[in-house]
Amino acid sequence: MNIVFLTSEVVPFAKTGGLADVCGALPIEVSRLGHRCSIIMPAFRGVERSGIDIQPTDISFAIPLSADKLVGGRLLHAKLGGSEVDVWLIDQPQYFDRPALYGESGFDYHDNGERFTFFCRAAIAAMLRLEQAPDVVHCNDWQSGLAPLLLKSNPKLAQQLGFPVSVMTIHNMAYQGVFPAELFPLSGLDWNDFHSDCEFYGQVNFLKAGLNAADFITTVSPRYAKEIQTPQHGCGLDGVLSARQGRVVGITNGIDVEVWDPSSDVKLPMRYDSEHWQFGKVGNKRSLQEEFGLELNDDVPMIGLVGRLAEQKGWDLILPVIKQHVQEQRPTQWIILGSGDPWVEYELKNLCEQAPQQVAAHIGFHDALAHRIEAGSDLFVMPSHYEPCGLNQLYSLRYGTVPVVTATGGLADTVVDASDENVANQTATGFHLPEKTPQGLDQAIGRALNMRHHQKKNWQDLVLRGMRKDSSWRQSAAQYQALYEEAVSLKASR
Ligand code: ADP
Ligand code: GLC
Repeated sequence: MNIVFLTSEVVPFAKTGGLADVCGALPIEVSRLGHRCSIIMPAFRGVERSGIDIQPTDISFAIPLSADKLVGGRLLHAKLGGSEVDVWLIDQPQYFDRPALYGESGFDYHDNGERFTFFCRAAIAAMLRLEQAPDVVHCNDWQSGLAPLLLKSNPKLAQQLGFPVSVMTIHNMAYQGVFPAELFPLSGLDWNDFHSDCEFYGQVNFLKAGLNAADFITTVSPRYAKEIQTPQHGCGLDGVLSARQGRVVGITNGIDVEVWDPSSDVKLPMRYDSEHWQFGKVGNKRSLQEEFGLELNDDVPMIGLVGRLAEQKGWDLILPVIKQHVQEQRPTQWIILGSGDPWVEYELKNLCEQAPQQVAAHIGFHDALAHRIEAGSDLFVMPSHYEPCGLNQLYSLRYGTVPVVTATGGLADTVVDASDENVANQTATGFHLPEKTPQGLDQAIGRALNMRHHQKKNWQDLVLRGMRKDSSWRQSAAQYQALYEEAVSLKASR
């Protein structure tokens, strides 16, 4: 099959979160199954820093966004990380040569609706020019949500492309791309197409368009696939999903086990494997303590956090717990990496000033430090309010860092709680919060530390089980392959 991925983020070209990790790894794994995979993404500022050779092509196009607005673009080309996967980058400096992907200083760019309408139309224009017609167009998140609707509403276009099937993957239901209805005509579609499939309280909703128009909908864990069909987690689109429940599938994300491997990770001061994990983790911890001016102490448990400073990640639970540990001078150390909401940044800076030997934070995006934190921490805390899949808990498991997580979405699917029963039957890999409150988080951390201090054998088993868990993309890629095949055969039988 010829599979084309549409996405706004791909490691190592552009990244704000896990979407980039997924889109940088899944196409490679699917191509290993014998398919031809390519990716279409915007040529954001900074893609050249990926270290990958990017070449101009002679493919260019002009998209008539309105009667008086013709916007040109051209394709750049690269290969993804030494693989056979083609990456086609849409070069349109006015829209994509900006300091950030989606916005600055906490504000979205005012023209995001126009930018990503252009992206979807340009991606289709690109597919029309590429030599092999796609069998599957795999869209990811709201940024490519209009593409399935464009294909469905325009039979001539679909025919020119050989009637590909479309798959819409939800990486995060909370971000839907909702814009004023006046933008809808930029899609080139007729007002007759502005109906309940993409209309959302009088506005146009890009994700909703994708969910209604795609042949299949996937999300990144089975638990989240169920959760988003309820009002609590559906973010207003639970009805749309339940109406299509036979076409909603949860496939758990994998991780790039070459990039995230403590035994070969060049970003670590000390590499280690499951045989020498204790030694290796202490070495990495010590180096973090030195780097950040924390108390030099091999025994103190280091608690790590890496993530967007966004409501989703449970900072309202984390901050009070750190405060409590500082006030009560508990024997813990905290190391935090993130950027996002200014109020969380402010609170973190305050805590670092109050207890410089106990709490350290780096505000910003820093890939190598994310690796070092995974390696040097004993616990990794992820009390998310919701989590479609989550990758950091999977990196933690592989780095022998025990995850403490909320039992939601992909966190519940990938971390097995150390209940007495699960410890006894040797399946436990981490700790679940008993309730989504600061007290619940503190209790779960307390249970983990108690096992670390007093049940050393159980702790060792827990760590090693996590390190040996297979979180590679292999299984998930096979599930995507089966889904693509089903979609293609269903379409053929119509
Ligand atoms: P989400 O996609 O919701 O942000 P995930 O856990 O799926 O959450 O993925 C987050 C990814 O982004 C991980 O690879 C994580 O290491 C990375 N990440 C998040 N914040 C930062 C940061 N400040 N610096 C470096 N990497 C980060
Ligand atoms: C989203 C989700 C995260 C998921 C990632 C990749 O950003 O918040 O849970 O792991 O996408 O699918």
